[in-house]
Amino acid sequence: MPISSRREFLRTAALSSAAAPFIPSLFETATAAPKPAPLSQVRLAYIGVGARGRSHVRQGLLRDDVVITAICDPDPEAISRTSAMIEKAGKKAPATYTKGGEDFLNMLKRDDIDGVVIATPWEWHVPMAVATMKAGKYAGVEVSATVTLKESWDLVNTFEKTGSHCMILENVCYRRDVLAVLNMIRQGMFGEMLYAHCGYQHDLRNIKFNDGKSLSGVGAEFGEKAYSEARWRTQHSVDRNGDLYPTHGLGPVAHWLNINRGNRFTHLTSTATKARGLHKYVVDKGGKDHPNAKVNFKLGDIVTTVVECANGENIVIMHDTNSPRPYSLGFRAQGTQGIWMDDGKTIYLEGVSPKPHEWESFDSYQEKYDHPLWKQHGKTAQSGGHGGIDFFVMRAFIESIKAQTAPPIDVYDAAVWSAISPLSEQSIAQGSKPIEIPDFTRGKWKTNRPIFGLNEVY
Ligand SMILES: NC(=O)c1ccc[n+]([C@@H]2O[C@H](COP(=O)([O-])OP(=O)(O)OC[C@H]3O[C@@H](n4cnc5c(N)ncnc54)[C@H](O)[C@@H]3O)[C@@H](O)[C@H]2O)c1
Repeated sequence: MPISSRREFLRTAALSSAAAPFIPSLFETATAAPKPAPLSQVRLAYIGVGARGRSHVRQGLLRDDVVITAICDPDPEAISRTSAMIEKAGKKAPATYTKGGEDFLNMLKRDDIDGVVIATPWEWHVPMAVATMKAGKYAGVEVSATVTLKESWDLVNTFEKTGSHCMILENVCYRRDVLAVLNMIRQGMFGEMLYAHCGYQHDLRNIKFNDGKSLSGVGAEFGEKAYSEARWRTQHSVDRNGDLYPTHGLGPVAHWLNINRGNRFTHLTSTATKARGLHKYVVDKGGKDHPNAKVNFKLGDIVTTVVECANGENIVIMHDTNSPRPYSLGFRAQGTQGIWMDDGKTIYLEGVSPKPHEWESFDSYQEKYDHPLWKQHGKTAQSGGHGGIDFFVMRAFIESIKAQTAPPIDVYDAAVWSAISPLSEQSIAQGSKPIEIPDFTRGKWKTNRPIFGLNEVY
């Protein structure tokens, strides 16, 4: 970001003291330890080069400041497809680690790796991130970072013991509209924040089942006989009833509400509908005699979680992946002065919107309040996946390593955002009972100040 626009951004943020009680200085980091010298190049390794891992490799290949030293995956097809991408880009062939589920431990012994991108099935994230941090390397872990509460604590405890950073690679935090809304919240345009709505509302039925060959939209297989995420993800819908994927919605909302940095989640309640969609899909695709038609899917089709925050805001998180529906993360930001809605892309700000009680389009606000990151890198970002957000999240990880600083989305964010899954399972299992959300910062949320989107590194 040019210095002039950075100053302007910080000045406007500083003007809104009611909405942003903390004004961070540039280059503020989460830890006080002296920083090693910055790096000009980052040496990355990747554990898990399936669909998502390869999209991260693609981002690495677009950058001159990244060297890919090693890739690890027991699936020969994943390795050969990734190696072909790297060769096509004219880059040096990386070392490959392919000998089973634990070979990543051998890869982590290398001394030519600064950061590791982990894009494996959820149950592998924490063992891999913990081993990466213990090896003194930056861990960049896909979403959700953890499956159990203990795993969330394992991440935090390992960071506190080793000082090695762990970033949850929550790309939605960098969506253009949610960053503009963050910018507006920090400028006090919504008044004092009251409420946020978000969720993962994505018909995943053709991801949870396929024919074992590709993501073709046909077939009713999951597990060993299936391809990509249906090999592992669907089993979570058999075994668990809760919000299995909360961070795409919760990440942006956590920044809007300064979670872990002046505010925190305190309690949640969760409620699940009956489970119908996955069984119906199996019968529709495979017939009523397909073996998977006998499977009892535990995951309710629509799970609604209400989170309470220490500063008095409420958040509703939807998890809706088993029914026919268009994709939407369903964001809504609401404060004492107005409201923004993702569905419909509309806004109403009292005293600003032209007509009382009438929505207006968000389009002109988007341009006017674009976050400095999008203003500066928006064009380049389009080369990345998911409308540019994959560029930004990988950039943040890489720039944090180069600057040898804390990532903008840290281990405490990874721990508490992901913990919504097991806590929502607990609540549902106990008849929607309120469940306390642990303070993974052990009180530091009271003095930590926001850093996300307020630093020229990220
Ligand atoms: N942020 C996003 O937008 C986004 C999008 C898609 C997936 N994801 C996340 O990325 C992760 C991976 O998802 P995916 O779609 O690539 O799944 P995938 O099944 O296509 O790929 C997972 C890869 O991990 C490999 N793997 C499994 N166990 C391993 C081990 N022990 N060591 C090394 N490699 C191992 C598999 O062989 C496979 O190639 C998941 O956590 C998912 O939730 C995030």
